[in-house]
Amino acid sequence: MKGVLLAGGLGSRLYPLTRITNKHLLPVGRYPMIFHPLVRMRRAGIKEVAVVTSPEHMGDVVNLLGSGRDLGLDLTFRVQDEPGGIAQALALCASFTAGNPLLVILGDNIIGEDIGEQAAAFRRQLAADGTGARVLLKKVPDPERYGVPRFEGDRIVEIIEKPPAPPSNYCVTGLYFYDAGVFDVIAGLSPSARGEYEISDVSNAYIRAGRLSWGVLNSWWGDAGTIDGWYEANELARDLVYEELLSLNTQ
Ligand code: DAU
Repeated sequence: MKGVLLAGGLGSRLYPLTRITNKHLLPVGRYPMIFHPLVRMRRAGIKEVAVVTSPEHMGDVVNLLGSGRDLGLDLTFRVQDEPGGIAQALALCASFTAGNPLLVILGDNIIGEDIGEQAAAFRRQLAADGTGARVLLKKVPDPERYGVPRFEGDRIVEIIEKPPAPPSNYCVTGLYFYDAGVFDVIAGLSPSARGEYEISDVSNAYIRAGRLSWGVLNSWWGDAGTIDGWYEANELARDLVYEELLSLNTQ
């Protein structure tokens, strides 16, 4: 399985913190924001990761991450020329993933647990069905801020992006497992009303095909893309120390 870390976009909800830097380079706890999802990928056994960011900030992102060696990763970089949406950013990684299944994580998602078991569940799904996707949910007090699943029984029948009247108390977190067919799905999408290629539309295509599974994150989880979310994530991650990164403290 390969990884895709999405770190483009404008970061406008954190402006002016993001006036001269990329959102994903801001601190969360003891690390730059982008370290958190990358460590979770590595711990799930994923070493080859493509990082997508904007042309303005690619230099700083490469300065921070280098080849990925410090994180135990083998990194590839892709430029998203304009922020046309999460699905558009993912589409830039088609040749990188080269037919492998992938774990996509949004770079502002801070995850309080390892996700190796979720990756294993997705591998089992692919072994049984050949194709498919898996989303990870979290119960939240404010689902209207996120993509929200609508359930019939224990089946997700639709994911609605930022619904004013949420059909459940769950949000779809920014961690997605997809088979290699995801790039054909994206190629068939149209931009949403806000002009973006939406990741929820990608997952909805898998729902229509009866190929979407879901899991729930047990520990804390945060989206650091807003001021409130960023403060909350800093609080949650304040004492989080990744042992494999201890050598970085002395440099
Ligand atoms: O965090 C979970 C939520 O993330 C999901 O519940 C929503 O369904 C999903 O749409 C997304 O919502 P956000 O409003 O948080 O998306 P945002 O625009 O903040 O983008 C999230 C990340 O995706 C961001 O850290 C960078 C990356 N991104 C975003 C856009 C729009 C890109 O790489 N390129 C882009 O063009």
